[in-house]
Amino acid sequence: MARGPDDTPRWAALMVLAALGTAVTETTNPGIVARITQKGLDYARQQGVAALQKELEKMEIPSFSGSFKIKFLGKGEYSFYSLVIREVQLPSSQIRLLPNEGLALSVTDASVKISGKWKARKNFIKTSGNFDLSVEGVSISAGLNLSCDPASGHTTVTCSGCSNHIDSIHVHVSGSHLGWKIEAVTRTFQTCAYFLESHICQVVTKSVSSKLEPYFQTMPVTAKIDKVAGIDYSLLAPPIATTETLDGQLKGEFFSLAHRSPPPFAPPALAIPMDHDHMVYLGISDYFFNTAGLVYQQAGVLNLTLKDDMIPKKSKFRLTTKYFGTLIPQLAKMFPNMSMQFLVRVSSPPHLTVSPAGLACTPVLEAQAFAVLPNSSLAPLFLLGMSANASVEVGAMSDRLVGELSLDKLLLELKHSDIGPFSVELLQAIMNYIVPTTVLPKVNERLQKGYPLPLPTHVQLFNLVLQPYQNFLLFGADVLYN
Ligand SMILES: *[C@@H]1O[C@H](CO)[C@@H](O)[C@H](O)[C@H]1NC(C)=O
Ligand SMILES: *[C@@H]1O[C@H](CO)[C@@H](O)[C@H](O)[C@H]1NC(C)=O
Ligand SMILES: *[C@@H]1O[C@H](CO)[C@@H](O)[C@H](O)[C@H]1NC(C)=O
Ligand SMILES: *[C@@H]1O[C@H](CO)[C@@H](O)[C@H](O)[C@H]1NC(C)=O
Ligand SMILES: *[C@@H]1O[C@H](CO)[C@@H](O)[C@H](O)[C@H]1NC(C)=O
Repeated sequence: MARGPDDTPRWAALMVLAALGTAVTETTNPGIVARITQKGLDYARQQGVAALQKELEKMEIPSFSGSFKIKFLGKGEYSFYSLVIREVQLPSSQIRLLPNEGLALSVTDASVKISGKWKARKNFIKTSGNFDLSVEGVSISAGLNLSCDPASGHTTVTCSGCSNHIDSIHVHVSGSHLGWKIEAVTRTFQTCAYFLESHICQVVTKSVSSKLEPYFQTMPVTAKIDKVAGIDYSLLAPPIATTETLDGQLKGEFFSLAHRSPPPFAPPALAIPMDHDHMVYLGISDYFFNTAGLVYQQAGVLNLTLKDDMIPKKSKFRLTTKYFGTLIPQLAKMFPNMSMQFLVRVSSPPHLTVSPAGLACTPVLEAQAFAVLPNSSLAPLFLLGMSANASVEVGAMSDRLVGELSLDKLLLELKHSDIGPFSVELLQAIMNYIVPTTVLPKVNERLQKGYPLPLPTHVQLFNLVLQPYQNFLLFGADVLYN
C-alpha cells in the first residue's frame, strides 16, 4: 500500500487524538454514588463535636514551677500543681463544604474551666492556695481533607489545617499574700493560655487521625454475600465536595469470588437530583443489579429442579407423564405412568432496567423436561425456552436492600424435542401455573434475605425512601449513630 511521507504526521496526530478520546471515554462511572447532604454533615458534626469535647476534657496540663522576684520580698519559688480541666463546653459549631477541597469545621464561643493548686516559698515564709481559671471565647477552625486510598479503596481523612484563638481568661486565686497572689494570677494565666493555644489543635488533629479515620475504615470496601459473590464498594476517587453535598463514587459491583473478571458492560452516568430532605442518599445504578445477574448466572447456580411433590396436592396440574400425556399423547405412550422432572435454569444473564416507571427485567429461562424411569434414571423429553416480563419491587431494610419479583405471562418456545413435534401452546396453562408457584417463591426467598448496603459500624438508618429514576434507584435515609 502506497503511503506518501506527508501523510505520516497527520496519521500520527489522528492516533494521538484517538488515544486521547479513548482515555476520556474510559473514565469509569460509579456503580453507586454515596451522598451526604448538609443535613447529614450537621448530624455528623454533632457526633464529632461531642467526641472532641471528651478528648479535650482528657487533656492533661502539666505542673509547673519556677522562681520569681517580688517587690519587698525578693526572690522566691513557686509551684503550680494538680491542674485539672473541670469542664469544656463547645456550645456552637458549624461544618461547611469547601467545594473541591473538603470540609471546614469551626467551633466558636467554647469555654474551658481549669482548677489547680499553688504554693510558694521564700526562706521560712510559705503560702499556698487554689486557683480557678476560666477560658472564654475559644474558637477553633480545622479543615478536613477527604481522600481515597487507591490501594484499599477506603476513604481517608486528614486534618488539613487547624488554628485556635482565645478571647479572654479569668483567673481567681485564693491565698493570703497579695503580692504572691498577683504573681500567681499572671503565671497561671500565661501558662494555661500557652498550654491551650498549643494543645487544642493537637487534640483536634489527633482525634481526626485516631478516631475519625479509623471510623471511616469500618466502611466496608467489599462484602461477601454467599459462596458465589461479593460486592465491591470501594471508592473510585476522592470524595467530591460541592456547595451542597459530599459525594463518594463507589465501584458498586458484584463480583465472582471464584474468578473475578470485568463485566462486559459499563456503568451509566447518573444524574442524581439535589434532594436535601434526608441525611444520606445512595444512587444505585442498574449496573449494580446487572453485575449481580451476570455473576450468579455465569456461576451456573440459577437453576432449580422441579418435581411433582413440589406441586400443591390439590392442584390438577401434575408433573407426570400421565397428566402431560393428556396434552401430548405420544408422551403417555412412550413413557407410561412415570413421574416427570423439570430442570429450570436462567439461560442468559438477567438484564434489569431501572426507569421512573420502576424496575423491570425479562428473564430468559430454559426448562428441560425428563421422565423418571423405573430405575430412577432420567430420560430427556423436550427443552422449552421461556421468557417473561418481570417487575421487581425493591424495598429497604435498615441495612440492606430487599426485593420481590413478579412475573407476567410466560412466553414459551419449543427448542428441542426427543418425543417428536407437539404444539407448545398446549403447555401454556401448566407452565403459567408451575413457574409462579414453585420457581418464583424460591427466587423471592433469596431476594428477601437482601443485599447489604455499604454502611460504617454503629449506624442505623430510618425514614427510608426509595425512588426509581432513569438508570438508577435513589435511596434516601436519615442516620442514627449509636
Ligand atoms: C488533600 O490530601 C491530598 C492527598 O493527601 C492532597 O493531594 C491534597 O492537596 C489535599 N488537599 C487539601 C485541600 O489540603
Ligand atoms: C444448579 O445450581 C447448583 C447450586 O445451586 C449447582 O451446584 C449445580 O451445578 C447447578 N446445576 C446445573 C445443572 O446447572
Ligand atoms: C402407576 O405406577 C404406580 C406406582 O408408581 C402404580 O402403583 C400403579 O399401579 C401404576 N398404574 C398403572 C396403570 O400402571
Ligand atoms: C435404566 O433403564 C433404561 C431403560 O430401561 C436403560 O436404558 C438405562 O441404561 C438404565 N440405567 C441404569 C443406570 O441402570
Ligand atoms: C414484554 O413486554 C413487551 C412490551 O409490552 C412485549 O413486546 C414483549 O413481547 C413482552 N415479552 C414477554 C416475554 O412477555
